Amino acid sequence: MSFTYMSSARAWMPRVSLLAVIAFAAACGGDGAAESTTNTAATDGTFARIQRDILDKSCVSCHRAGDANARQSQLVLTGDSAYAQLVGVASLQQFARADGFPRVKPSRADSSLLYHKLSWVPGHHSRDYGQLMPMGTTKGVTAGQLEYVRRWIEAGAPRVGHVVDTAVLADVRLQSSSFTPLAAPTAAGLQLKVDSFAVSPGSERELFVYRRVGNAADLYVTRIQSRMRPGSHHLLMYTFDESRTAFPCNQRPAANTVRDIRNADGSLNIANMLPMACHVFFAGAMTQDFDYRFPPGVALRLPANASLDFNVHYVNRAPIDLPGEAFANLYTADRAQVQTVARTLNLANTNFSLPPKQRTTIRTVFPMAVRTTVLGLTSHMHALGERYEIRLRRADGTETSVYVNTDWEHPGFTNFETPLVLQPGDALVSVVTWNNVTDRTIGFGLLSSDEMNIIFGYAY
Ligand code: HEC
Repeated sequence: MSFTYMSSARAWMPRVSLLAVIAFAAACGGDGAAESTTNTAATDGTFARIQRDILDKSCVSCHRAGDANARQSQLVLTGDSAYAQLVGVASLQQFARADGFPRVKPSRADSSLLYHKLSWVPGHHSRDYGQLMPMGTTKGVTAGQLEYVRRWIEAGAPRVGHVVDTAVLADVRLQSSSFTPLAAPTAAGLQLKVDSFAVSPGSERELFVYRRVGNAADLYVTRIQSRMRPGSHHLLMYTFDESRTAFPCNQRPAANTVRDIRNADGSLNIANMLPMACHVFFAGAMTQDFDYRFPPGVALRLPANASLDFNVHYVNRAPIDLPGEAFANLYTADRAQVQTVARTLNLANTNFSLPPKQRTTIRTVFPMAVRTTVLGLTSHMHALGERYEIRLRRADGTETSVYVNTDWEHPGFTNFETPLVLQPGDALVSVVTWNNVTDRTIGFGLLSSDEMNIIFGYAY
């Protein structure tokens, strides 16, 4: 994913540079080296306990000098090396490096690869830090051991000394998520959710659940808040394009029923995906917790008898079931309190053709007939899409790029802190590049083997 969801346009900054990561790791290494004069064979103390109870028992079968696993990971965890190879040492794993996480960063468990490798419940990061440790087993370290390691890191990860109460080790249960369900809105509003479901070991699960909002009158939504159990790549919510009345948009999915995108054999479940042809973006989150507020006085109208199709995508790298679950809170205001009613933008080019075995870039101009204030933008393309750019074109022909997405599956939403104001004659322009690697011509369609070309957003 290239962009932080709901980021401001200003936040499109490159991630921490590798140079900074290395510089940081070197600084930490200094601390470790200073301590290396102390007795490496300490048999008492918190790290000694970690060595004896965890590393010696569950890790050194692979992480020992001469073993192929130790060569691959460049990590030896026997008592003579473990501390020096963990604390303050730059990680090998590519995403941990990109995030600036050494193997152990003293006082910061959350920024320590060791902690993420031992934590079988995916953490707050949607990042994938490779295999979970101990690799090749069906159980992680116990909840108590994980907590013991976490507190040792938080206490500065010293080589010697007792810094964690050993009572935490008494919790010998399997690790469990510390997930707290999202409380329903305390002010006016309502909560909708995707009930808990299981993602089998070593698998992915992407599904839809159709929920009726149950609103007799129009709702004016001022804030959208969501929370997912860890392990999901995204939560998207869609309404339906009521102007489309032909099949399949003349039907709605069965309510409150899980619709998996894939069958058990891995093939696509077309029937479950058909409603995608009629979707209009309502809200979405790429992070576990998400909170979007419309500007003061502005609310998004949700018509009476509305429904939302929820879409979540979970990846489970652990050899045990991972529970998935998602909540959305819609905060509402009385119509009388709303000065400006926002709507969802839905600008689609349904008429394009992508010749086989080549890259094609298509530019589509959507002129505005009336003054339009754009609060935020996102895009929709399918798997052949490589790049989706949105430009703002003024009536005099000048253009500025306002949005770019290169990850078709996880399109970011760009929130404009200063909304884009388009006068009549100004336009939004989509510039989309696809790489049609297949040997057939591809056009607009609802299957993920067809393509899409849609700008979604909030505007008034
Ligand atoms: C069956 C062999 C095996 C076992 C057992 C094992 N590991 Fe690993 N470990 C690997 C391999 C292979 C890699 C490299 C691949 C990866 O990072 O996913 C690795 C990578 C790592 C890394 C990342 C190093 C880096 O800088 O990227 C850490 C940290 C780690 N292991 C810690 C542990 C700990 C702690 C245990 C015990 C609780 C453990 N491992 C048990 C095989 C094993």
